[in-house]
Amino acid sequence: MKEQIDATRAEIKGYRITDSASLEAFRIRFLGSKGKTKELFAELKTVPNEQKKEIGQLLNELRAEAENHYSTQKEMIESTASVDNELDLSRPGDADPVGSRHPLSLVRREIIEIFSRIGYYVSEGPEIEDDWHNFTALNFPPEHPARDMQDTFFVEKNEKEMALRTHTSSVQVRVMENSTPPIRTISPGRVYRNEAISARAHCFFHQVEGLYIDKNVSFADLKQTLLYFAKEMFGEKARIRMRPSYFPFTEPSAEVDVSCSICNAEGCNVCKYSGWLEILGCGMVDPNVLSACGIDPTVYSGFAFGMGIERITQLKYKVNDLRLYSENDMRFLEQFKGAI
Ligand code: PHE
Repeated sequence: MKEQIDATRAEIKGYRITDSASLEAFRIRFLGSKGKTKELFAELKTVPNEQKKEIGQLLNELRAEAENHYSTQKEMIESTASVDNELDLSRPGDADPVGSRHPLSLVRREIIEIFSRIGYYVSEGPEIEDDWHNFTALNFPPEHPARDMQDTFFVEKNEKEMALRTHTSSVQVRVMENSTPPIRTISPGRVYRNEAISARAHCFFHQVEGLYIDKNVSFADLKQTLLYFAKEMFGEKARIRMRPSYFPFTEPSAEVDVSCSICNAEGCNVCKYSGWLEILGCGMVDPNVLSACGIDPTVYSGFAFGMGIERITQLKYKVNDLRLYSENDMRFLEQFKGAI
């Protein structure tokens, strides 16, 4: 009896199971109602009483082994079968998840596109600037508060004191120094200011500044250019208004409001019930700036303007917290899927 058990055990170990047919054959041979284990259990009654316990145990082990072998082989056959299915070359592929453009990139591209249609080209410059390009050439007096540590991040580069640019007007200085009018350029880029981070302020943001220099450029040209921009950006119904302001590099200077596109200028909490939203600063380039950059102010005149991309994006997409732009929260970013 013991030999029979050992022989069956060896047979189980050596049994080749390659597919579901041989698996079924295995089941019938060893576990079926007329199978080997049943047969051996039936013979147990012929075993002398004093050996019954030992042989019974061996038979139980044998059955467990056969069952185990059956179930592991079954699992293997089933999993290879499903791999085979996945390799079906006629099945459609799984799409890779596609990312989306950051809302600030969307709006930057749109601003560039709007101005390129009327002849502006893009110029870029370094984010670490010297005092000349960020302040002095732009007519900032030495004691101007914008140079103060509170607004500007100062850094040292090659033992020279430098600053993280506080606006992209610095790029326009470089353009004026290196070209002769007519000049029609916009400078998109990141700028830095030493501000406490909150929903309404950040230590960096993005700007697009514009510059147009030629003979006989007037304030009327500036106003018309900005009205064109507002209509392209916010829709045909958009209107603008200009309020007198001050910048060291422009004279006269103005701040520009656009009619609130969220409430159709009827008054809402975004425009604080005024119907107007401030979107940019602008003015006629100060003759001192033209001279500092090697352009004759008796021959040429020009205008400049500068806007924050975050601000335009806030109005366009109703984003109410500046911090959302740099936190990489997928719930925020995924809302811009599909936009180009
Ligand atoms: N440079 C100004 C700023 O950063 C914006 C501006 C640009 C204003 C050009 C007038 C003319 O706030």
